[in-house]
Amino acid sequence: MTDSTFNLTHHIRSIPDWPKKGVIFRDISSLLEDRLVFRKTIDLFVHRYFTTRIDAVVGIDARGFIIGAPLAYELNAGFIPVRKKGKLPGTTISESYSLEYGEAEVEIQTDWLKRGDRVILIDDLIATGGTMLAAASLLQQLGVEIVEAAAIIDLPDLGGSRKLKEAGITVHAFCE
Ligand code: PRP
Ligand code: ADE
Repeated sequence: MTDSTFNLTHHIRSIPDWPKKGVIFRDISSLLEDRLVFRKTIDLFVHRYFTTRIDAVVGIDARGFIIGAPLAYELNAGFIPVRKKGKLPGTTISESYSLEYGEAEVEIQTDWLKRGDRVILIDDLIATGGTMLAAASLLQQLGVEIVEAAAIIDLPDLGGSRKLKEAGITVHAFCE
């Protein structure tokens, strides 16, 4: 399904001044609504990881779920959500962070992942990296190995992927 002429960037809308003045919002809705483009996008991730041992895909609330769940299914791996604070029952650990347009807190249940498990950490986009770094910190607290932190889009001018690399995390995005 993948081909060299497929350019993801062409399928992502940019909405100026949303959700705040000065932010150019990269909207993946235009990519998701097109069944071929959605399939090709998931296939890019699948082809990247299908020869690697992956125990679970960890997806970040909420747009990371849209990519992470079909990826986990195709890799025959489990799917673990990192959710915004207050949504998960049972024992959790949490981490506060800032993102391009606000502040939030994410959490994960401690029941599922074991020390040494190999995971892919997935979101749609890396901007300042606050969200991905907070999720990565949760995984590190659980002793989990992050094979790669991956997103459809990286906004390198906002420095997130650089911060992740400086923290020793391997990062991949398919477009800028
Ligand atoms: C967006 C995006 C990433 C995060 C990236 O999520 O999906 O998770 O921002 O920004 P950062 O690199 O500056 O942290 P948002 O919090 O808007 O949540 P949503 O997926 O529920 O829309
Ligand atoms: N999350 C943080 N910054 C973003 C942006 N510019 N577009 C979409 N999601 C984002």
